[in-house]
Amino acid sequence: MTIDINLKRIVDDSYAIHIGPLGDIVHDGKVVIVTNPKVAGLHLLTLLPKIKAKEVYVVTIADGEKYKNLETIEFILDRMFDHRLNRSSLLVAFGGGVIGDMGGFCASLYNRGIDFIQIPTTLLSQVDASVGGKTGINNRFGKNLIGAFNQPRAVHIDPAFLATLEPREFGAGVAEIVKMAVTFNREFFEWIEQNDLREGDNLLNAIKQAVATKARVVEEDEKERGLRAALNYGHTFGHVIENETNYETYLHGETVAIGMVMANSLACELGLMSVDEMKRIRNVLEYYKLPTSYAIADVEKFYKTFFLDKKSSDSKITFILPKSIGDVVITDTIDPHSVKTILRRYQK
Ligand code: GLY
Repeated sequence: MTIDINLKRIVDDSYAIHIGPLGDIVHDGKVVIVTNPKVAGLHLLTLLPKIKAKEVYVVTIADGEKYKNLETIEFILDRMFDHRLNRSSLLVAFGGGVIGDMGGFCASLYNRGIDFIQIPTTLLSQVDASVGGKTGINNRFGKNLIGAFNQPRAVHIDPAFLATLEPREFGAGVAEIVKMAVTFNREFFEWIEQNDLREGDNLLNAIKQAVATKARVVEEDEKERGLRAALNYGHTFGHVIENETNYETYLHGETVAIGMVMANSLACELGLMSVDEMKRIRNVLEYYKLPTSYAIADVEKFYKTFFLDKKSSDSKITFILPKSIGDVVITDTIDPHSVKTILRRYQK
């Protein structure tokens, strides 16, 4: 006997991304803000008066990618139970990419799912991580291997929060802006080459362009069955570097910068990309003082770590390689010899 469960349905997960001064957040129920001590110290007094809700709780967790793990998730969930949140409660993820990833993941888990909104406070999370519903954590096998697609109800991007950003954090965000331009928008890249993002309205314009680009990609391919994978440009190499350095040496965006340079070297080696374009991308990254090299200790070990990436299957590694600025290929057919040739160039 066969009994079918017919679950075909249309889900509307649409949401707005507001870019500009943060307005009131009105919620008819309990609100829990998930943040870290650094963001709380700098900005909580700005956020709290904006939250109009019955009860508001704050959960702070340690700052940094190395705390993006199951233990921290359990800690956040425990606090949510302590505060007796229920299905109509709202979680506000207030911080950088790590907070957004963990806040969104907790929202997907608590009582089988509650609403959440993203208020990103770093450039990296404003231009990339807060948009598109990727949530999750790292484990000893690699980065973001546990998680869920869980779209927020809204994203509030207020560039005023960036005033306190440290220069390295700023650079890390620029790396993701450059990624967005190289993968999908040549004109945007050329604009970045000609305009210092630290001057005037340039940063606001770059945020708008990057977010608009990402929004269109997510609309087309929310669950990363194809097009969205292009946004992992730089990440295939970058995730290995993060894993090898135990998430302690570099910021995520910094490893993306190194990873883009490595991917470009591979693209050049394969005759896909011109040396001139490779140099143009490197120049922009170096202008923002991003690292563009990494000393590989053991090429075979580095290569093996690629297979922990969730975009890789047992025997294939997915690479995002530019053919030219604004046009990338997603491929899992690159021969190991070419990849290792590039890795050896980085060997210590
Ligand atoms: N950060 C890449 C993505 O959201 O798909």
